[in-house]
Amino acid sequence: MKTRMLQAEGHLIDSGLLSTILNTILAKDGDYRITSFSVGKTPQEISHLEIELSGKDDEHLETLIRTLKPSGVFEKSVPSANLVIVEQDRYAPNDFYSSSNHRTEVYYQSAWYAVGHQRMDAAIVYDQSKDSFSCKKLRDLKKGDSIVCGNESIRVYPVEAEIRSPKDSAPQFAFMTNDVSSERSVDIAVDKLASELLRIRAKKGKTVVVCGPVVVHTGGSAALASLIRQGYVQGFLGGNAVAVHDLEVQFFGTSLGVDLKTGIVAEHGHSHHMRSINTIHGCGSIKAAIEQGVLTSGLMYSVEKAAIPYCLAGSIRDDGPLPETVNDMIEAQRQYAEIIDGADLIIMLSTMLHSIGVGNMTPSWVKTVCIDINPAVVTKLTDRGSGQAIGIVSDVGFFLRALEARLQETSIGR
Ligand SMILES: NC(=O)c1ccc[n+]([C@@H]2O[C@H](COP(=O)([O-])OP(=O)(O)OC[C@H]3O[C@@H](n4cnc5c(N)ncnc54)[C@H](O)[C@@H]3O)[C@@H](O)[C@H]2O)c1
Repeated sequence: MKTRMLQAEGHLIDSGLLSTILNTILAKDGDYRITSFSVGKTPQEISHLEIELSGKDDEHLETLIRTLKPSGVFEKSVPSANLVIVEQDRYAPNDFYSSSNHRTEVYYQSAWYAVGHQRMDAAIVYDQSKDSFSCKKLRDLKKGDSIVCGNESIRVYPVEAEIRSPKDSAPQFAFMTNDVSSERSVDIAVDKLASELLRIRAKKGKTVVVCGPVVVHTGGSAALASLIRQGYVQGFLGGNAVAVHDLEVQFFGTSLGVDLKTGIVAEHGHSHHMRSINTIHGCGSIKAAIEQGVLTSGLMYSVEKAAIPYCLAGSIRDDGPLPETVNDMIEAQRQYAEIIDGADLIIMLSTMLHSIGVGNMTPSWVKTVCIDINPAVVTKLTDRGSGQAIGIVSDVGFFLRALEARLQETSIGR
């Protein structure tokens, strides 16, 4: 048997990380001996664990440690990072460290470095001129880049271990468990989210909304537009459809040909979305349609008027597309990542495609709330690594109207 000394710190007991670590070792045919364990007694104190990990050989140990890394386990005597030069654009050495979405540090030349632009599925590049480490997608690697290989010098901070960190003075999201909330708790969720939006706006923070066309079909777009006008939203992400259907409502009063007031299918309603796209092309763009007085209200109108950054990412399902829709997927991902950067809160509204896409590029410490009628969407997000996502199972139109009403009451009450 080969052994390695490892350690872990944080809220190991109440977060369940201790049992995760120990059970994972046994499940993967390894063994362990706890050599030291100090328990944090108060919510402010953290626990510290030291274990001797045993595996069949070096390869088995490596596999075990790679599996344990996301639980915050790191070497007892950490070596300086092994930096390897990239020999070909877009191609990393085979043992490159593949990042997670959790806060990460690299030990290099006797110091711990925080990794910038944290996201999952990236390499970690060292920039000598800035003496800093940051995540970089493989497709962006350039010959000559210096990247971290192996995982011995990496420390990952799982969000569960940090949830009651004394450094985090902000009030916690009371429903910050990665549960999917039941219908009964939607009212509570509305209250909590309203308080969070107020708090973020007051500190001039950043809330980003990821929005699907269902928001328009369910009559939630007026409430969302109102939140945007009131300064609760600092970034807007979606696809072609949300903008197309919003424009259809503004020009024809229908969404997918259905009259939003009566619920009756309008005559020739099926062509309304194409006529809306055509109108925008006639003006040149959504922005130009506003300047020309053609578009005078609605969700996209509010996004443009509030001058918040937005990106409509294209997809194979798109009609048109609209002039603003970004069809180069790499460029759309880049714009999404830029808009997410520095977000305090991400609200995902009924779009599985864009929610999972955003989850992939969001650090795990960013509060993420996903509102969808289908609980499986949150489960999918969690399965793909966005374990911090809180699910609220609700009709998104109902939820947005309730949220806006709650925020109105709060502002009147003040
Ligand atoms: N005309 C067009 O151009 C057009 C039309 C539709 C979709 N698209 C594109 O296709 C892609 C995927 O579209 P998408 O995001 O709509 O699909 P999606 O399947 O990714 O997500 C739809 C989500 O809405 C949820 N949902 C359904 N009804 C709901 C309700 N009442 N309340 C809350 N949640 C509800 C579903 O559970 C699902 O998770 C996007 O890029 C979109 O722009 C284009």
